[in-house]
Formats: sequence, C-alpha cells, structure tokens
Amino acid sequence: MFSRLLRTATVLSLLMASQAWAQLDFGPYVQNTNEKKATVIWYTKTSEGGTLRYGRQMGQWEGTIDGGTGTVHRAMVENLLANTKYFYEIASGAKIYATGAQFYFRTHPRPGARTPFRFMAFGDFGDGSETQKATAAQMLKDDAKHNFALLLGDIIYSSGERANYLRDYFPVYKDLIGHRAWWPVLGNHDIKASKGAAYFEFFETPANNPSAVENYYSFDYANAHFIALDDELLFDGEDLQKQMTWVKQDVQAAKKRGQRWLIAMWHKPPYSAGTHSDDEEIQANFVPVLEAEGVDLILNGHSHVAERTFLLANHKIINNSLSNYPKKGFETAAIYVVAGSGGKTGSIEEKHALMAFQLGNAAGYESIYINGDTLRGSWIKSTGQSMDQFVMIKNGNNQTDVQITESETLPENFAAHYPNPFRLSNSADEPLHIAFEITNPAPITAAIYDILGRTVTRLSDGEMYAAGSHTLRWNGRDLNGALASTGVYFYRIQAGTRVHSAKIMLVQ
Ligand SMILES: [Fe+2]
Ligand SMILES: [Fe+2]
Repeated sequence: MFSRLLRTATVLSLLMASQAWAQLDFGPYVQNTNEKKATVIWYTKTSEGGTLRYGRQMGQWEGTIDGGTGTVHRAMVENLLANTKYFYEIASGAKIYATGAQFYFRTHPRPGARTPFRFMAFGDFGDGSETQKATAAQMLKDDAKHNFALLLGDIIYSSGERANYLRDYFPVYKDLIGHRAWWPVLGNHDIKASKGAAYFEFFETPANNPSAVENYYSFDYANAHFIALDDELLFDGEDLQKQMTWVKQDVQAAKKRGQRWLIAMWHKPPYSAGTHSDDEEIQANFVPVLEAEGVDLILNGHSHVAERTFLLANHKIINNSLSNYPKKGFETAAIYVVAGSGGKTGSIEEKHALMAFQLGNAAGYESIYINGDTLRGSWIKSTGQSMDQFVMIKNGNNQTDVQITESETLPENFAAHYPNPFRLSNSADEPLHIAFEITNPAPITAAIYDILGRTVTRLSDGEMYAAGSHTLRWNGRDLNGALASTGVYFYRIQAGTRVHSAKIMLVQ
C-alpha cells in the first residue's frame, strides 16, 4: 500500500511538473474527419515545433505527424482504419503538451455502413452567458452518446471576433472538441468582424466544391450524407448559383453511392416564429432545390428558440402526425428543426402553423440518432430533459442494393457456410453460420440479400475483426426482426477488396 501511494505521488508530481513548463495557448481540437483521416489543431504561446503521435492503444504510437513550426500547429493523420478510435499525444521536442484518455478521435464508419450513430446540432451560443455554460455542461454529460456536432452559425457574438473565440469558445468547450469533430456553418454575427476571418482561421472544412471555398461543403458519416450551406457570404447572384449547382450534383452523387439519409444545415431558418420569423429568401432559394433532391432533415439556428415542423413539402404539411413520419426513399418530404438556443434564448412570438413543436426561453441542443432506416430527433434542454421527440422511417425504397453474380464467388473463396439448406422449423434448428478467415485485421461487411438483391439484414457493417477465424450467424430474421420466408437468399461478405458471396436456401 505504502509503495503504491509513493508511486502515485511520484506520477502526480511528474505530471504537475510537465504541465508547469508545457502549456498550450489553446486546443488541441479535432476537425475535418472522415473514414480515413482526421486533423488535429493546436496553438502554442511561443513559436516552436510541434508533433502529433497517434495509435489505437495509448502510448503504443503507430505514427508521428509533423504539426509545423510557429504558434499554429496542424497535423492531418491519414490512411486510418474506418470506425476506429485513435488516441493522440501532442509534443514539442521533449515537452508533452497533451496526452491521456481524453485525447482521441474516431474515424467515421465507411460510407453506406448501417452503423448506428448520434450527433448534436445547435447554434447561437458563443456569448459567454450562463445559459451557454449550462448547455455546454449538459452536452458534456451527454458526450459519450454522440459522435460529432453540427454548429448552426452565430458561433461567436457579437461579431465573430477572434478574441471572443479565446474567451467564449475554446475554454467553454475544451473537454468536447479535443475528441469530437465540430462542423460549422457561418451565421450573420460570425461575419460582422472582417468577414468571418476568425471563423475561417479556426475551422477547417473539406471545401469539396469547384471553387474550393470552405464556406460550403459536404461529408458522409455511415449511411448519411451531410450538406453545409452558406446563407451569409455567398448567397447572391453568381455565388448562389454556383452553390446551388454544386449542391444538386453533390447530393445526386451521394444518392448514387448509396447514402440513405440526406441532412442539410445552414444558419437562417425558412420557417420560424421565435426571435426571427419566416425567411422568404431562404424559402425561395434553398428549400425547393433541397426538397427536389429528397433531403430528409434541415437544421438551422438564428432564431433563439427550439422549433420543429411536421413533415413538409413545398411549404405545406404532408403528414400532420405529431411525431411519426414514414418517408418513401427520396420523395419530397422534409422536417425542419430550429435549434438556435445553444446559449442565446428568446421567446416564441406566436403559434406557427407548420410547427409540431415550439419552445422559447430555454437553452439546449438537438440530438439526432440514426440507426439503419430509422432517424430519431430529440431536443434536449440544458437541464437534460428531452422536450420533443420525432421519428422518420425510410421505407418503400424497393431498390436493389447489390447485383449478385456467380463470378463473385471466385477467386476469393475465404468464407464458407453451413448448414445448407438451413431450416428454422423448430427451436432446435441452428442459425446459418458464415465462417471466414483473415490473415490481417480488417473491416468486415456482410449482409443477407433476397433474390432481387435487396438487403434482408446486415451481419456486419464494417466492424474491425482481428486476424484469425470468425463466424457470423444469421437467425433467418430481417431488419425488422420478422422471420424471412422460405426461399433462396444470398449472403455477401467483404474484407477489404476480398469478396465472397453464395446462394443459400432457407426452409421454414
Ligand atoms: Fe443569426
Ligand atoms: Fe443568433
């Protein structure tokens, strides 16, 4: 016991000593993640070199990235495994600036994967208020459930000043942004001082548009596609046209890739009756383009309240259920959420005809959960209570998910199955076993398809498997838990570039 105390004391004093002489200015924070890469940014007080070490086990570093010399340091880590947690450590020479369990990032699940995930969305927060801090404290309590956050603009008041980021952003959210990517859009307050110079300095976005501007962009996360638009600086004339041309092509490409959910965000809501009312310019310019492509969910800030519409199309209600919205594929049908009270609050001015939920004078954030074909939304108050819930379920797609060809069974015959035919006529019957062997760790994707190539259920969505022999099992049930009927099915399993598929016969 005594020696353990002594050892703890020694470790503590070493930690304190290293912190005493190694202090960052602010950061580190994670940006611009995808299924293969992540960027970490940190600022030092004096000009010096900086390195980032990363690895799946803390202390067992798999690589080192040069973060550059100066006071601003940026390390982009590439060639990572999908849906994998990586710890990182930040150093300058022998000085360790950041290390420990709280410094990590997680790569996205591979696009198309049906891995369940959650994210936060909120706007209008960086004003240094007590309500901002209370909401930040609740977000920290709920942090483990969420994979990333969307910032809906008005990040820093009153004018997006650089100095205010150092007071009302980095210190307030430091325990969240060190391991979660926060994705921004510009708000009207963010652009007041020097056209958003601080915003563009601190945030890094994919800028995956022909103009290569960071103002608007998109990214995939599992089976969802996220679109961030600029309604502040590039909302006129040719700029707006370019943005709309890009968004159409971008969303169409995402649908072709097989992304199932389309989620868009920008600052000003088309519909609101809070601290702002309906915005006709947004209604005319953004709404028709996105709805025509079948976008499912639109997230905005600006109005310092919480609001959520019924299911809408062309500015009208098409489903007046309070909370339950089936949607066919990419039909024109969207839900609009206003989450503009991440710190600022205001009151509801009147009952809005399109809103299923309105709440004023309360701070909080929207939490969205996606699991396969189901999307659940909930607005969480800074006290932790869920004040609104809704669900969208995608059905009736009837689309073919894969083309199964016999040639796929060769040459990578790394999996085998038994029994065949497999029977589920009584409880003693065995499930279908798909046994496979891999020589290196690999993400495994496996699913059961019907004879038309439509997904019946998923057995693995890109989860990592260690080298060795493994067995996946199918209990004859579909994604909804119902028993599949007697007939011919296929399974398809993929490890990296190796694919194996085979026909199976289910007998009830
Ligand atoms: Fe605003
Ligand atoms: Fe605002």
